[in-house]
Amino acid sequence: MASLKGKRIIVVGGSSGIGLGVAAAALERGAELVIVGRSGEKLKAAERTLGPGGRVRSLSADMTKEADIARIFDETGAFDHLVSTAGTPPPNDPIGQTDMDFVRRFVDNKLIGAVMLAKHGGRMLKAGGSMTFTSGINKDRPPVPGGSIVSAIAGSFGYFARALALELAPTRVNIVSPGWVDTPMWDELVGEAKSGFFAGMAARLPARKVATPADVAPAYLYLMESEFTTGETIRIDGGQNLI
Ligand SMILES: NC(=O)c1ccc[n+]([C@@H]2O[C@H](COP(=O)([O-])OP(=O)(O)OC[C@H]3O[C@@H](n4cnc5c(N)ncnc54)[C@H](OP(=O)(O)O)[C@@H]3O)[C@@H](O)[C@H]2O)c1
Repeated sequence: MASLKGKRIIVVGGSSGIGLGVAAAALERGAELVIVGRSGEKLKAAERTLGPGGRVRSLSADMTKEADIARIFDETGAFDHLVSTAGTPPPNDPIGQTDMDFVRRFVDNKLIGAVMLAKHGGRMLKAGGSMTFTSGINKDRPPVPGGSIVSAIAGSFGYFARALALELAPTRVNIVSPGWVDTPMWDELVGEAKSGFFAGMAARLPARKVATPADVAPAYLYLMESEFTTGETIRIDGGQNLI
């Protein structure tokens, strides 16, 4: 396994939730972080959470804008690993009531954003580097009704990584597929109902708990450190795909 000590890691989505958990875990391993998100306020709060030490820099960029994505790599220069956890709450209406503008925004953010990161990221990625993107449990266990779009988008990531792993070799390209993780996205999605949802899911899950960002961060660390894993999707879902 390659050490992360002194490695430069860009985490797009690193200002909140899973991405913030990955940034904190990578920092503990001695890495240098650049966290990226749209909101300067969230980035500043994340920098405070990650603490002083001079190994975290934040950069405001919107991954739906190609010029912003190109700027991320112009400004950071050479780096070792790219992680993206960026995403917004998915559409969840039944297919007959789907708001197509919302769907297009979701696809733009999650899938096209990842494509643009891959397009521009390779330019500054050092030898031995990796790219890791995020899919999710909804491809395995689609919510009914309303799960078809998020399922299609999350499902596409595994194939994206398999093809890119060949095209960009020896750069490694992988996917993390988390189950439910307690993050601010859930507060936005279900508000105060969150604790009830989570208690119900925890009782059903083989792991008997809903994950925190710290619980899923090791999958991202593994994919950065393992020099022999590429084109792979790692599920880290407490057994949620089994139930
Ligand atoms: N939480 C779960 O249970 C779960 C389960 C499976 C999969 N996932 C997936 O995991 C990913 C992360 O989820 P999370 O729960 O950690 O969400 P979160 O806490 O809301 O964090 C999302 C992060 O993405 C950034 N972001 C969103 N749109 C962006 C854009 N256009 N450009 C740049 N940054 C952007 C956000 O910052 P700004 O808003 O400031 O841009 C924030 O840092 C999502 O794709 C989600 O679908 C989550």
